[in-house]
Amino acid sequence: MGRHLSTFLLLFLFTNSVFSWKKDEFRNCNQTPFCKRARSRKPGSCSLIAYDVSISDGDLVAKLIAKQSSEDISEGQTRPTKPLVLTISAYQDGVMRMKIDEDQSLSPRKKRFEVPDVIEPGFLNKKLWLQRLKEDKSENGPMFVVYLSEGYEAVVRHDPFEVFVREGGENGKKVLSLNSNGLFDFEQLREKEEGEDWHENFRSHTDKRPYGSQSISFDVSFYDADFVYGIPEHATSLALNPTRGPGVEFSEPYRLFNLDVFEYVHDSPFGLYGSIPFMISHGKSRGSSGFFWLNAAEMQIDVLGTGWNDENSSVLMLPSDQKRVDTLWMSEAGVVDAFFFVGPGPKDVVRQYTSVTGAPAMPQLFATAYHQCRWNYRDEEDVFNVDAKFDEHDIPYDVLWLDIEHTDGKKYFTWDRMLFPNPEEMQKKLAGKGRRMVTIVDPHIKRDDSYYIHKEASEKGYYVRDSTGKDFDGWCWPGSSSYLDMLNPEIRSWWAEKFSYENYVGSTPSLYIWNDMNEPSVFNGPEVTMPRDALHYGDVEHRDLHNAYGYYFHMATANGLVKRGDGKDRPFVLSRAFFPGSQRHGAIWTGDNTADWDQLRVSVPMLLTLGLTGISFSGADVGGFFGNPDTELLVRWYQLGAYYPFFRAHAHHDTKRREPWLFGERNTEIIKESIRVRYMLLPYYYTLFREANASGIPVIRPLWMEFPTDEKTFSNDEAFMVGNSILVQGIFTERAKHVDVYLPGDQLWYDMKTGTAYKGGVTHKLEALEESIPSFQRAGTIIPRKDRSRRSSTQMENDPYTLVIALNSSKAAEGELYIDDGKSFEFQQGAYIHRRFTFSNGKLTSTNIASATAAPHKFASHCTIERIIVVGLSPDPKTALVEPGNHKADVERGPLLLRGGPGPSSVLTIRKPNVNIADDWTIAIL
Ligand code: GLC
Repeated sequence: MGRHLSTFLLLFLFTNSVFSWKKDEFRNCNQTPFCKRARSRKPGSCSLIAYDVSISDGDLVAKLIAKQSSEDISEGQTRPTKPLVLTISAYQDGVMRMKIDEDQSLSPRKKRFEVPDVIEPGFLNKKLWLQRLKEDKSENGPMFVVYLSEGYEAVVRHDPFEVFVREGGENGKKVLSLNSNGLFDFEQLREKEEGEDWHENFRSHTDKRPYGSQSISFDVSFYDADFVYGIPEHATSLALNPTRGPGVEFSEPYRLFNLDVFEYVHDSPFGLYGSIPFMISHGKSRGSSGFFWLNAAEMQIDVLGTGWNDENSSVLMLPSDQKRVDTLWMSEAGVVDAFFFVGPGPKDVVRQYTSVTGAPAMPQLFATAYHQCRWNYRDEEDVFNVDAKFDEHDIPYDVLWLDIEHTDGKKYFTWDRMLFPNPEEMQKKLAGKGRRMVTIVDPHIKRDDSYYIHKEASEKGYYVRDSTGKDFDGWCWPGSSSYLDMLNPEIRSWWAEKFSYENYVGSTPSLYIWNDMNEPSVFNGPEVTMPRDALHYGDVEHRDLHNAYGYYFHMATANGLVKRGDGKDRPFVLSRAFFPGSQRHGAIWTGDNTADWDQLRVSVPMLLTLGLTGISFSGADVGGFFGNPDTELLVRWYQLGAYYPFFRAHAHHDTKRREPWLFGERNTEIIKESIRVRYMLLPYYYTLFREANASGIPVIRPLWMEFPTDEKTFSNDEAFMVGNSILVQGIFTERAKHVDVYLPGDQLWYDMKTGTAYKGGVTHKLEALEESIPSFQRAGTIIPRKDRSRRSSTQMENDPYTLVIALNSSKAAEGELYIDDGKSFEFQQGAYIHRRFTFSNGKLTSTNIASATAAPHKFASHCTIERIIVVGLSPDPKTALVEPGNHKADVERGPLLLRGGPGPSSVLTIRKPNVNIADDWTIAIL
């Protein structure tokens, strides 16, 4: 009995410690004074008026001053003692920027922090010079109006102060507004008064807060919106649930504070590893708009549910006829540096946002293929065995990863020479098969005097300092560690140099990098991170830049990989922490998820949200990091993960080995098939990565991005689009017999495996198959593939293409293909091929759509097209005529569509048309 009891107790303790999120380690809003204060403020309590409104240097400028009246100011309000300065600037393509800060001419106590090196330099050149200020006298007093862009105006209301964007004209509908609910508050810096205590305590930690309270909060309203999305990173639904208001589900605001959360739960507004304060709205009647606050301090955001403010709305004069979603934004410090995006389509908003923060980097081709990771591949023998097994089972993969144990005592850039005696040879051996390796490099530096990085960094004073001015010393993987001050550009360049082949001993050109723990994670710090009163370059407090720390680290590492060698290759760096702009530096993954079905499900909204906020190249650990997935879950995860933009399997060191061949022959086959589908689709994915790189539009997209007027898609986060042509539906339950799939639009969809046609605008109840999850090609599209199975993407370089044409009701379709050398920056000089394929009137035409500046002679491809599959053509053609050349190609009816399934009779295949992928040609079906 006693024995049983203790076993039970042990089990209880174990399950509690291994599978529980330690909520108490993290602050909630009530334990966060600025959040609590902001949340308790009453609508309409802001008494600021806009004063001295004028145009200066092409901007609209105004002062915000406290109203000189005897009106009562509701409790809890901190009325600014000095005027604030408001500046509005307009930029091309429907972007408005609004800044609010203390008046520098009045010598505030310090200059408040503005986040450097995030805004894309080219954006600043897009500034439009505001010329004319119009004064409108509305019934609510004067309004100051400036022309913003085609069809839009920016308006500053005098009293109470409000800023909004509206469609042109006096009665133009509002698009976005700030302070319409009168919740704006700006805590100005001031001297400490006698007897005041500014310290804040949380658990055993004290934050000295030498500058006292300096928070900012305000309400933002999105008009004609049905839902709001964005503000990653949270493990929750795509459409953001209200956090306040009648019948709310969450009572905490969405928190943006980069944290290393051990075993995060799958439905929570708590902050995770990265933060992007950018929200996008969508509604059926108007479309989308967006709001971005460039601020790197802790932020909390409430989504206010309908009716949250019913008792106050009469005093606020809000337009009652216009539907809207209200939100409340609260930050601990910094300035207001906010961007309003007018849309009106969801793709427009994403384009506008990435015009400010930069478009996603173009990855190397290999990085878009499959990655095999685990904590840890133990030694060289383990590496070679795993590598050989992939070949033995004929499963393609491109990258093998090494976690922290490959180092000598967690000193990054070193190798445990007992386990990895010949790292160069090891990498070269894999490179011989076209494969790469990745090693991990974290930002905590072991405080070990014999470690060259530590020695140099401490001598040069490159570490973040604690509040007393000493090098900050925290606990992480290596034990006692210090953290490089990545805010300082000089330190970033120094760090980048560490990746040169001479400095990083044992590295070769086929080695790439993984940045982890860069929130930064500090095991013994408050909330497992760095104290807010730690000091950076220029005496900036950590609280000001916390959310951007990992971003600067990622940036420095990526620059290191760009600089090494001859500087020709595009870098690949995966990071866990992120901030706006991270998309310029590499890929992101969703951190330490758990091997359970709910986490498989939440990976979809998490990745869709990242894509909406610029971070297109993202993935979740396939299989789940913590715990052992049962076979069915692992298989389903591969089937879904094969469509993630970043496709990597990873596992905690306490889990059982789970390489694809360990689950019996049949499961090995199914996993292999899902990985192969990804390889077949690589040309399509690469084309989408280029689209993201050119326009910010993500590789995987919520359905409503492609079908913006179809309301049924607005909160669907179990299915997603890959580009505009493929819809993927995950299976998130065990032993599912059926799966409901909503197929949007009024065109047909073709099952990608069988070619069976399904009607759009309908939810279909489909049989759940063991061997694949549902995926469909949208009628009217053409998808380029490479179908031959190889060991790695590199080996597919010269393989011929297959085009899959899914015809719409007019028997037409179109698609694109982008190709470059897959690795260098030459594409930026025009060394690429970009084709459009159009099918109409029974004829397929290939045309060049490379921009006028392209220089295709710099990049040639001799690849041909070996097969064209046409779905949805009913007559019985016999042959196809290829021009130029006037030669015939065979046409067959009803053969295989994807490996594994016989196509229905409406599928036909043109065999060996043998046209060159880079040429102009036509193929007519006769
Ligand atoms: C963190 C990472 C995980 C990694 C581990 C050891 O938990 O999120 O992916 O395996 O550290 O480096």
